[in-house]
Amino acid sequence: MLHSRLHDEYLNGTVLEHLPASDRVASVRTFALLRVSNESPPALRHEAAEVARLATRESSAHKSGYDGSITDSVLLPYVLVHGSRAIGFVLIGETGWSWRMRWIAPNKATFVGATPDEVSRRVVARVWIAKAHRAQGLAREIVEAVASIESREVAEMTFQLPFSAAGCRLVQSLLPGHWFGAGDAFDFEDVVSSTAS
Ligand SMILES: CC(C)(COP(=O)(O)OP(=O)(O)OC[C@H]1O[C@@H](n2cnc3c(N)ncnc32)[C@H](O)[C@@H]1OP(=O)(O)O)[C@@H](O)C(=O)NCCC(=O)NCCS
Repeated sequence: MLHSRLHDEYLNGTVLEHLPASDRVASVRTFALLRVSNESPPALRHEAAEVARLATRESSAHKSGYDGSITDSVLLPYVLVHGSRAIGFVLIGETGWSWRMRWIAPNKATFVGATPDEVSRRVVARVWIAKAHRAQGLAREIVEAVASIESREVAEMTFQLPFSAAGCRLVQSLLPGHWFGAGDAFDFEDVVSSTAS
């Protein structure tokens, strides 16, 4: 029973019971994009935390999470809604440290410069799309929509590592040349390994 519920959520997204129209900030195709903040009703914050937990199940290497509590940090979950289901999730944070990167091959990047860029930037901490809605360009569109709502260019935002294979492809597709990445040395290992030549 639990297994079939988890599988259904993985495929079709979590069921949302609290969908206040006031938190709708944009449409992506026919879907509503909600922006959840400290000012959102507790029920919506906690439902967004459920979506974050679902997203974490597939990218457990990621440290950043959202538990629905009110914090001082800039941590903004965006939830993409289809009917009563959350089918997409983007978690935005902020960082003062980003590494300037450049792709040199599929899934392989190299550092540009020996020191991090110390400009404060929005960081895309997590992106998740329900399995049944993948490979249709939705992740790309919600990242672009979120950047626009945050008044940033996608190229000015930082992406939190480590990446999953699909996450890596998404970032490379969004930004095929230079991009900013955040994380520690271990987080960058996969994406920069074998790039020494
Ligand atoms: C990563 C994820 C968000 C991508 O969502 P999506 O809606 O399928 O991605 P899109 O359809 O917008 O694809 C965007 C680009 O990435 C590429 N891409 C995405 N997933 C890919 C995959 N599994 N294999 C190869 N390329 C992939 C697409 O081909 C597309 O490139 P293009 O624009 O050059 O054609 C989704 O696979 C997911 O939620 N995975 C589980 C969680 C996760 O890994 N999150 C990322 C953590 S770093």
